[in-house]
Amino acid sequence: MKISSPRGTSDIYGEDIDYRNFIINTARKIFEIFNYSEIITPAFEYTQVFSRSIGEGTDIVQKEMYTFMDRKGRSLTLRPEGTASIVRAVIENKMYSENMLLKLFYIGNMFRYERPQKGRMREFWQLGIESIGTDNPVIDAEVIWILNSFFIKLGFKNLILLVNSMGCSRCREKFLAEFKKYIKPELGKLCNDCQNRFEKNPLRVFDCKKNSCKSILASSPEVSSYLCSGCKRNFKEVLECLKILKIKYRIDKNLVRGFDYYTKTIFEIISEDLQSAQNALGGGGRYDNLISQLGGPEIPAIGFAVGIDRTMMLMKQLNLKFKKLTRKTRVYLITMNKNCQIYSLDILKYLREMEVTCDINFSNKNLKKEIKWARDNNYNFIIIIGEDEINSGSLTIKDIKKFKQYKVDWKNQKDKIMEIIGANYYD
Ligand code: HAM
Repeated sequence: MKISSPRGTSDIYGEDIDYRNFIINTARKIFEIFNYSEIITPAFEYTQVFSRSIGEGTDIVQKEMYTFMDRKGRSLTLRPEGTASIVRAVIENKMYSENMLLKLFYIGNMFRYERPQKGRMREFWQLGIESIGTDNPVIDAEVIWILNSFFIKLGFKNLILLVNSMGCSRCREKFLAEFKKYIKPELGKLCNDCQNRFEKNPLRVFDCKKNSCKSILASSPEVSSYLCSGCKRNFKEVLECLKILKIKYRIDKNLVRGFDYYTKTIFEIISEDLQSAQNALGGGGRYDNLISQLGGPEIPAIGFAVGIDRTMMLMKQLNLKFKKLTRKTRVYLITMNKNCQIYSLDILKYLREMEVTCDINFSNKNLKKEIKWARDNNYNFIIIIGEDEINSGSLTIKDIKKFKQYKVDWKNQKDKIMEIIGANYYD
């Protein structure tokens, strides 16, 4: 039997690792500036953590969760997203406090049983933040600001930031009544999934990607038209802050996002360069009732998550360049036989203790071939160790970028090596 990775999963290696590290390092830097601390939660939770937060009627809970019984008959689920787990962790570890904003970030793999296609995986990676403790609209703007800065720092220029407000539970009740009235006569024209969605959780009809359903929704009432005065004011203040911060946005009155926990501000960052339906690079919103819904105190919160795989895919498609953080000094030791290899262990040990990136040849090819290989693989120094060097206790160092050669007395003048190869390692 040919063994392959499960459908919808991928191995990440080579150039993709450089992209991924760049994306993650960029995020970490921004999160640090905005004073977020990292949290790591388990990759699986009790199923209820997700079903109670994301919503029983959502596609994620209905069709996309990897749920299984453990050996003691407990229902567990691989996390399909990060927010519910973080809220569970915040409540369980009592991380919240009344007067302090809790700012957390996370990076992790998520699992959704979706039909795999370009940019849509069954295991994918997200990085995200959750800001827990206030419903001040300045924080909404700050969270969007972080998302926006992150993509600018990655080099993106033409992304579109969509914003909308879902209102509070009172606004939503009014809206739902009108929405149901509108959809009822059209119900037969909706796809089977949407007819089910409408029964269980009418708002989820908005998540449908089918054009026939989308066209029916095009003239439906909009959630933002049913905002109470408080929610209207709140949204206006968020938009004012975005203007002051010079963050360009587009109000999308049909944006509802696929989770039940959202209240008030929601947003998504999309790219028209991603030609599939999977054009969202990231998204998020406020979830003021989720913490109390999961058994914690009434604490408002807001956050977002970015799809790392999708971001990487688009960076490659757009040919966005970044500077790879590489160690400047890379040393390759070329030993001429087994005896020299043993002798050179001591040199390798010294170099690695000095935090120099170095390697050694494992098969003894001819010297010319080894030097060419070192040059092709971005080493800037080679150290040659042959019988002569062992007998005289010396080393030959070649600077292969500058074509210079040095002889060093290994036994008595170890420090000379560092003088030659330099101590500033990062490009
Ligand atoms: P989400 O919109 O479901 O939000 O996911 C965020 C991002 O994860 C998407 O924009 C997309 O880039 C990526 N993503 C989602 N599903 C897949 C998939 N199957 N394959 C590849 N990438 C995918 C959330 O997950 C919320 N927890 C965000 C949030 C945080 N809201 C408040 N706080």
